[in-house]
Amino acid sequence: MKTICLIPGDGVGQEVIPAAAEVLQTMDLDLTFIEAEAGFACFEKKGNALPETTLACARRSDAVLFGATSSPSTIVPGYRSPILALRREFDLYANLRPVFSLPGDFSRPGIDMLIVRENTEGLYSGRERREGDTAIAERVITRQGSERIVRTACLQAMARAKLRGIPPSLTIVHKANVLKITDGLFRECALQVTTEFPEIKVNESLVDSAAMKLVKSPESIDVLVTTNLFGDILSDEASALVGGLGVTPSANVGTGTPVFEPVHGSAPDIAGQGIANPVGALLSSELMLERLGFVEAAGRLRQAVVDTLSKGACTADLGGTTTTKQFTRAVMERLK
Ligand code: NAI
Ligand code: MG
Repeated sequence: MKTICLIPGDGVGQEVIPAAAEVLQTMDLDLTFIEAEAGFACFEKKGNALPETTLACARRSDAVLFGATSSPSTIVPGYRSPILALRREFDLYANLRPVFSLPGDFSRPGIDMLIVRENTEGLYSGRERREGDTAIAERVITRQGSERIVRTACLQAMARAKLRGIPPSLTIVHKANVLKITDGLFRECALQVTTEFPEIKVNESLVDSAAMKLVKSPESIDVLVTTNLFGDILSDEASALVGGLGVTPSANVGTGTPVFEPVHGSAPDIAGQGIANPVGALLSSELMLERLGFVEAAGRLRQAVVDTLSKGACTADLGGTTTTKQFTRAVMERLK
């Protein structure tokens, strides 16, 4: 039996996580669910965006299914983004973001890539300060952090190649021509780790040129590994190729309880209307099932989502009129 800690969070997280949980419950797997609070509404109510009870629940669960939380763009004393805190707390150093073509006019065909984003350091290391009219952010890159993320990417490249019967390939993305010291170290570590995997065809790309290639020839990319901020931006960009933020899933993995979450945020512009796209949350659930060892069920879930989309059902962000509940019900019907 596996225990899932559900953290819907704010905004559309409150719509897509219950939808995903409902689907998982109909799959007849040996799963138990515990719901826990986090986010801005929780902060306003309890003075803490990630209460100790939530952390404890996550700690004793086998996986966390996380929706999204709202983070203000100004400093709110005492508030810290719960997802950043969870990644740090459980040392979830790898953010795996698969991006693949879906059936529908909203998606380009022929795309099947995995973006592996470093999740704990880089420009998101939280070392920012203000000195009068100068603001400084420290970009922290470590040998250990770089080596472990690139090793994860290499292992993913090997596994994907085996599954798909294709030669393994990896694109290392950096900006070492300008950030010679920080990305210089990342690049050095990456090139060294890849020598442990002689089968993998390794390419390097500067981040600006990688951003262009993602739009121009995304079919040519298999596994891409990069630092925190670059990975955040490139994965949102990549999601636009296959339907946008509503459809892309992610897995945060590393040392502690893994956290699965759609790539999107709390989408305050559409929250509460019942039109949020549950696909990102459903495909994140698929990644979770796979990691928990329910490999066959993960495949069934993916197929049910793909089949539902291929019948033309889709939410407003993809150009359709299907509501969150209708889409969820259609997926459940297919799973029966
Ligand atoms: P967002 O992802 O919430 O929204 C961007 C656009 O995508 C909006 O037009 C929204 O309507 C649409 N969208 C997102 N998810 C959707 C879904 N499931 N179905 C249909 N349309 C969807 O990003 P934004 O607007 O930059 O941020 C809003 C809030 O979310 C902010 O407070 C931000 O801090 C937070 N955020 C949280 C994240 C997390 O918890 N991991 C990640 C990104 C943003
Ligand atoms: Mg993002």
